[in-house]
Amino acid sequence: MRKGFRSDLGWSDVTPKGLWLNRRQVLAAAGAMALGGPALAGLTYEKSPLSTDEAPNTLEDITSYNNFYEFGFDKTDPARYAGAMTTDPWSVQIDGLVDKPGAYSLDDLTMGVTLEERIYRFRCVEAWSMVVPWIGFELATLLNRVGVQPGARFVAFETLARPEEMPGMANPSIEWPYREGLRLDEAMHPLTILATGLYGEPMPKQNGAPIRVVVPWKYGFKSIKSIVRISLVADMPPTTWNMLQPGEYGFYSNVNPTVDHPRWSQASERRIGGGLFAKRQDTLMFNGYGDQVAGLYAGMDLTKDY
Ligand code: MTE
Repeated sequence: MRKGFRSDLGWSDVTPKGLWLNRRQVLAAAGAMALGGPALAGLTYEKSPLSTDEAPNTLEDITSYNNFYEFGFDKTDPARYAGAMTTDPWSVQIDGLVDKPGAYSLDDLTMGVTLEERIYRFRCVEAWSMVVPWIGFELATLLNRVGVQPGARFVAFETLARPEEMPGMANPSIEWPYREGLRLDEAMHPLTILATGLYGEPMPKQNGAPIRVVVPWKYGFKSIKSIVRISLVADMPPTTWNMLQPGEYGFYSNVNPTVDHPRWSQASERRIGGGLFAKRQDTLMFNGYGDQVAGLYAGMDLTKDY
């Protein structure tokens, strides 16, 4: 059964008029440019005040240095192999403790939603970082629309698992599909987004097309790519890196310079694109988003709940 938002809410009901017209013009222009291909279409979005004012990394940095193990373990593998992934049509199954479960197309998910640009610091557990101008919308918007039922305490996510298009899946060391999870309050936090693009264009495949999570105060691996399933559940769900190495990667995985990874320090980071001799910078608690998110963890011992 296919369920969408269209029935109850149209674009023009929820989108500021200027933006709505603007999007129609963009779509018309995209149609006129059909010979030039969809990459020219671009996305219409608003700028979010929740952005950092740090300078973004280049598109080249962001799309050529990636972790997407379904395409291989090397940083250059995703750019090399992700082109084979079919992302249209795309459907995300939403299930578990929700009022409106179903298979939602990408259009269903974004229909009537105002896209925003969110320039976020992104800190990988491997102690490198980037600044990325994501385009997306709050995960809370989607969760509110599908209706979270009482009893749901966590959100579980799964990535596409299609071995014929994903050469990295031949590696049996990871139990596929790639999975991640958030506590419901983390998922509902305004900083947590579903991103459908970056630099004003639809999401590059190596960055998790067509839709991925971005949680800027957690290590990058929590930001799961190419999502095909979102489940509202009562119990803490299994997550890929925790399943693989529970002593190294906990469920929370908040960026925390005071809790080291067992094999390396988390106190500093190397900004990608800064060159080999660039000075390392100090890693900030919650990746610099502490004012907004520290309250989520009040009373918890973050050396135990890492
Ligand atoms: N999602 C999936 N499905 N597979 C992955 O291997 N890697 C994670 C995360 N999401 C990963 C994933 C890790 S370790 C990081 S650091 C970020 O994606 C990298 O995102 P980027 O390539 O857009 O910078």
